[in-house]
Amino acid sequence: MQHDSISIPFPEPRTDLFFAMDWAEFLTHNDRRLDDRLVIADRLALSDRVLDQWVRSRPHLLIDGGEAVKEWDRLGALLSDIVRYHPKRHTRLVAIGGGSVGDALGFAAGIFWRGLSLWQIPSTPLAWIDSSHGGKTGINFAGAKNQLGIYWMPEATVLLQNWNWSDPLWNDLKAELFKMALLDRPLFDQIAAYPNLASVDRTTIFQWMRLAVMKKLSLVATDPFEIKRLRFQLNLGHTLGHILEKRCSLSHGTAISYGLHFILEVSARWFGDPALSRLRTLYASFRPLAKLAEVPSWETIEPLLAHDKKRGPDGLVWVCLKTPGESALVSHQELSPYLREVYDGSFRDSFDGSC
Ligand SMILES: NC(=O)c1ccc[n+]([C@@H]2O[C@H](COP(=O)([O-])OP(=O)(O)OC[C@H]3O[C@@H](n4cnc5c(N)ncnc54)[C@H](O)[C@@H]3O)[C@@H](O)[C@H]2O)c1
Repeated sequence: MQHDSISIPFPEPRTDLFFAMDWAEFLTHNDRRLDDRLVIADRLALSDRVLDQWVRSRPHLLIDGGEAVKEWDRLGALLSDIVRYHPKRHTRLVAIGGGSVGDALGFAAGIFWRGLSLWQIPSTPLAWIDSSHGGKTGINFAGAKNQLGIYWMPEATVLLQNWNWSDPLWNDLKAELFKMALLDRPLFDQIAAYPNLASVDRTTIFQWMRLAVMKKLSLVATDPFEIKRLRFQLNLGHTLGHILEKRCSLSHGTAISYGLHFILEVSARWFGDPALSRLRTLYASFRPLAKLAEVPSWETIEPLLAHDKKRGPDGLVWVCLKTPGESALVSHQELSPYLREVYDGSFRDSFDGSC
């Protein structure tokens, strides 16, 4: 009997990305795209008067954002709210909020009727630069981050610039922005050449954020579903970061800051290049880090790595940095002695605090 095999080409998912100063400017050009929508918004995200009025004048739901939205029970509540709205097949969900609302609603949109169209309007800098595009969705489960999720590309993401963000929200951005700079040489060169990173003006930060978004999406386009492992590099700093985020109840940005510090030091040892370790100092001038209230022991951390989804044939892989603009995947097995040495040594020394 003859065995045939054919490849079926499926269309690539596509997201329209809109950059606009504010919601009024966006509406001027795109009002007609906004029919039949159910808006679900973080109640803290409606500081823009025009956006607030737009939301309140159509079917909407205001919710409390934050990591608790990404719990199983809250997902059930979100899905029930969608059912109560009596959606039609072409109904679009609009998520207005930070990464927590975007991740949870993205998951809900992707599984409801095997997929409702989704728009993302990120309302935190971190969501703006990272979580509102690229199609990753998810909720936390069994005590670990992002254990349940699907890839569900938003139909559109609207990146507005008039958010009135507080300093802590801006600070939370810096780890993801610096991570993208470590993966993108032109962006890195701009940041490294900036005269005073401690006081960058917001116009410059928005320019960097835009470059970071373009770099991220160019990487996503090469490997949207992480099959080729090219997209893994976006996980730089996240392997330890995600564990600290959950274990020490840190914000995502703070946790990734620690994760970046750690992996830069590990990379310096692995590649034998002390210049990588000095990048920590560059980052610290952008975002100084306070001591961690508690540094869990390596024995506590290591079993939690079992939840990490970045795996190759030999198990867990870490994204290390070779040089700004170039990363490399290294297996946990190979890296293991360096991980423990750095964690129990310079990492703990820098970040040990009193409980
Ligand atoms: N899907 C992805 O690709 C991806 C990428 C990175 C991070 N994430 C996820 O994103 C989440 C973190 O996102 P985040 O940092 O935006 O956190 P968040 O959504 O928890 O928001 C942080 C806080 O800011 C509030 N908030 C939201 N908008 C605001 C506004 N305009 N003004 C004032 N306060 C506002 C929220 O209510 C919350 O209390 C994590 O769960 C992380 O896992 C996902």
